[in-house]
Parts: sequence; C-alpha cells; structure tokens
Amino acid sequence: MEKEMLHEHEILVIGGGLSGLRASVEALRGGKDVAVLSKVHPLRSHSVAAQGGINAALGNTPDRGEDHWEDHAFDTVKGSDYLADQDAVDILCKKAPEAVIELEHMGTVFSRFDNGKIAQRPFGGAGFPRTCYAADRTGHNLLHTLYEQSISGKIKFYDEYFVTSLIKENGTCVGCTALDVREGTLHAFSGNVILATGGFGRIYNRSTNALINTGDGAFLAYDVGAALEDMEFIQFHPTTLYGSNILITEGARGEGAHLKNSEGERFMKDYAPDAMELAPRDIVARAIITEVNEGRGIEDEYVHLDLTHLGEEKIKERLPGIRQIAMDFAGVDPVKEPIPVQPGQHYSMGGIFVDKDCETDVPGLYAAGECSCVSVHGANRLGGNSLLETVVFGKTAGKKASEEVKDKEVNESIFMDSVEKDRELIDSIVGKKDGILYSEILKELRETMFQHFGVFREGDMMKEGLDKIKRLKEKFEDVYVGSDDKKFNQALIRTLELRNMLLISEIVAIGAIEREESRGSHYRTDFTERVDEKYLKHTVVRKGEEAPELEYSSVNLDRFEVKEREY
Ligand code: FUM
Repeated sequence: MEKEMLHEHEILVIGGGLSGLRASVEALRGGKDVAVLSKVHPLRSHSVAAQGGINAALGNTPDRGEDHWEDHAFDTVKGSDYLADQDAVDILCKKAPEAVIELEHMGTVFSRFDNGKIAQRPFGGAGFPRTCYAADRTGHNLLHTLYEQSISGKIKFYDEYFVTSLIKENGTCVGCTALDVREGTLHAFSGNVILATGGFGRIYNRSTNALINTGDGAFLAYDVGAALEDMEFIQFHPTTLYGSNILITEGARGEGAHLKNSEGERFMKDYAPDAMELAPRDIVARAIITEVNEGRGIEDEYVHLDLTHLGEEKIKERLPGIRQIAMDFAGVDPVKEPIPVQPGQHYSMGGIFVDKDCETDVPGLYAAGECSCVSVHGANRLGGNSLLETVVFGKTAGKKASEEVKDKEVNESIFMDSVEKDRELIDSIVGKKDGILYSEILKELRETMFQHFGVFREGDMMKEGLDKIKRLKEKFEDVYVGSDDKKFNQALIRTLELRNMLLISEIVAIGAIEREESRGSHYRTDFTERVDEKYLKHTVVRKGEEAPELEYSSVNLDRFEVKEREY
C-alpha cells in the first residue's frame, strides 16, 4: 500500500450528519485528532431534512406551567410500548434541556415565543408542548450550526468517501477502509471508530429518507461481530405526501391540523379519542391504513391533512417548508386545500447495540444516532426524540471514544490486507461484463419490504418475504454495474449499498417473524396482542457461521411500571 493511502488519526467519525458532527465537536474539544468520513458532503446528510423539532422539558409555553424531564421520560417509555431501556431514556430526557440550550448558544436560530424564549409545540404522544423548533426546518438549522462548529476547528473532512470495511486487530476495531468516490481509489484509516451513518429506510419503497440511508453502519458493525438490536421495529410516519412520500411534519398536527377521511370525518376519534391526531405515530399510521382499507380513503390511497383552518399567517410563519413541498410536489396550497397524505417508512428504531456510553460490543467501535440502538425508542419512537438522541448520544460517543484513545503503533500490514480485500471485491463487481443490474434487485427488494414487512404484518406473508430476500441475495451474486471506470462510478456505490441493504433486510425479516406479538410499530394481524410474559425483551442478532444468529436480552424497567397504552 502506498504510504499516502494510510491516514492516521485518533478518532474516525463515519457519517457527517448530526450525530457524527456532534461526536466530532466533542472529540475535538477533548483535544483529539479527528477525521470525519462521509459518503456525501455533510450538509447533504439526511439530518438536514428533519422538520418538526427537538424535545426538551423546558416548559417555555406561556400559561402552561412547568414541564419535568421525568414526564418526558414517561411519555417516551409509554410511546415505546415499554420496550425502551428506561435507564437510557432517563439519560436522554435529563440531558435534553442542557443539549438544546447548548445548541442555542452555538447559534441555532430557533423559533421564539413573544417573550423571547425558545418556542415549543405539541407533538404526538407527548403530554406537554415539548418540541423546540425552527419553523419546520429544524434539522437544517441544527446541521448548519454543528457544521459551522466543526469547520471552525481542526477536523479533517473526507467528503465523498464510502466506507467499505472496518478493520480489527486482536479483536479491537482499529480503523476502516474507504473508497474515494471521486478518484475511485481505496484508502485505509486508523483510529477509534464512531459510526454515525443514520438509518436504513431506503430498504423500503415508500420512505421519507434520503436515498443515502442504506444501513451502511449497521452492515459494517455486524460484519466485524457487533450485535444489532430490535431491527424489526420500523417506524412509518403517518403523514408523507401522497405520490412522493416526502415528509409532511407532525408539527402540522402539533399546530392543529386535522386528519380527515373521504367522508370529511376526523377519524382519529375512533382510534385515539383523547389524543386524536397527536397519538403516537404507530397508532396514527395504522388508523390511516385502516381507513383506506375499509373504503374511506381518497382514491383508495390516501387521506387528507387539513390545515386550512389554521390560517395563512400561521402556516406561512410556522410551516413554510411543508407548504412549499405541498405546492411543488402535489400542486396543493395548504392555505386553501387539504394535503393528500399516506404513511411511509420514516425511521429505524433498531440498530447497532450500544451501552449508555455508546460502546458497541467490539472494543474500539462506538455508535450514535439512528444507526445505533441505545434503546431510547423501543418499539415506537416519539417525534422530536431523534434529533435529541443525535446530540445527546453523539456527544457521549465523542467523549467516550476520545477517552479511550491509546498511544500505539499502527500495524500497517493489517490495513494493507483490508485494502487488498476490498480492492478484490470492487474489481470483481466492476469487472463483470453482464449480469443483473443493481437497480432491478433494489426495486424488488424495496417492494418486498413494503409489501411483506409494512405497517401490518402476518406470519406466512413475512416468511414469503424472507424467501424473496434470500432469492435476491442469490441474484446479487450476478450483479453488474455497466462500467469498469472506478471514478465517480455511482452505480458501483449503489451496488455496495445494495449489498448492505440485502443483509439488513434479512435481519429485519428474521426478527419480525420470530416476534409473535404486536408491540409498537410491529403489528401482526395473526398475533394482535402485546405479550409481555414472552416478548418484553430485545431482539439481538449477530453474525453466525452460516447465517444471522438470533437471541434475546432483557429490557431495563427501573423507573415506570409496564401498563397498557391508552391515548
Ligand atoms: O414529523 C416530523 O417533523 C418528524 C420528526 C421526527 O421524526 O422526529
């Protein structure tokens, strides 16, 4: 390996979204030599698309009295259908106010109440208006804030580097290999690794996720022996724009928008009479699909999200982004007409198992944000808690990985071997003259996941889905990309992502089939009840000799008694 192909750092952050940048800033504050590798420019990370807000018990809303972090914790645990680890939820909610104020001090332009305090709106499953926001472009504001912080220090950015493997030495993760997308060259990197690669929503064909959300981090971690947790829990956001599935923020319902069926009825009264449109997402998504399935949908496909009664001024001030999206992509102005919406994949509750310090079970390897599962979301995440997770646990990961930097010689041959192995893989893919195009397999995979592992699931249907995934994995052996030029070969990158997505889909399927109950986002028409005696436990999947191996682990229930959910 040429010397310049090995880049030595103390901390390698893989992923340039909110978790990755928050981790980087913390490692930099700890005096470490930090590098960020990202397959896109950090400002194109999916965090930029987050709309509605970030939760913290600030209690800023005039005339509403105080809010308490314990109430935020209770709402989170109840929303999770009791699968979240309550000790992790404690950390998330206790640290939330300080995390939001820190972002404010870094320069985030939050919306404000007239009294000057950070504005907060109601969100689903929350007993208090707790979601701080910057109109409906909160992720955009936060990402720019953290990017500014990152580039003001000495962080080295490797933009448009696609990580192909993690490298282990004597059981410890010591770095990674990555493809420079522009040049088509492979590089090795040494350092403690923090994975912050986001979710895997693009295994589904109706998703709010950016096209880059392909589960790369989960694949990489699994491949070096780390455990994945609760992967079967996939969140479907109730309101995505019909036709394109672009997110229409829950903030719209927080501001008072109504969901209506073809008869003009606010149907949520039949599903969650108290919370109505602000029930947790799993409940609202199922309600919409039920309305459509029972013939009360519009064009048999969607329902209406009606904002018209909010008035032009409020819509323009608080929800300008979704107004523009509705006009541009559906030809509908929400000031005058309702928005056509349907549920779409939105979030991956499961991910790489980490402890409260964001350590995986592979030494030297850490993870934070959506790619990880510290288990604050359990079976169903509350809106506004994911941005919070990125900054709270991103910070933790940066701190912990920095504390554990060891002064040691880099064993070059291990890095060279990894580069060679990945070079062979890439050569074998680009070297094929014909076969099956990656896009054909990808299309089928996404359709399969939506049909067989969607909002409603059933045993035989899921088994059929798993068989299809296995057949697609076989087809992948014959994948070809159409060009052997490695420079900016987007088809090659999509193909490497597809390898990751196929494995992740198989793991989602295995966990879903084995969980014979309904809990949070995992709703089975053949097992409609939650079964705490048998399934109040985490699903854990590891790499086996031949196939993924499944086991279970206990849930931390330290604080709140497990009860039925009512909204
Ligand atoms: O609806 C939304 O704005 C999404 C927020 C979230 O997923 O936390």
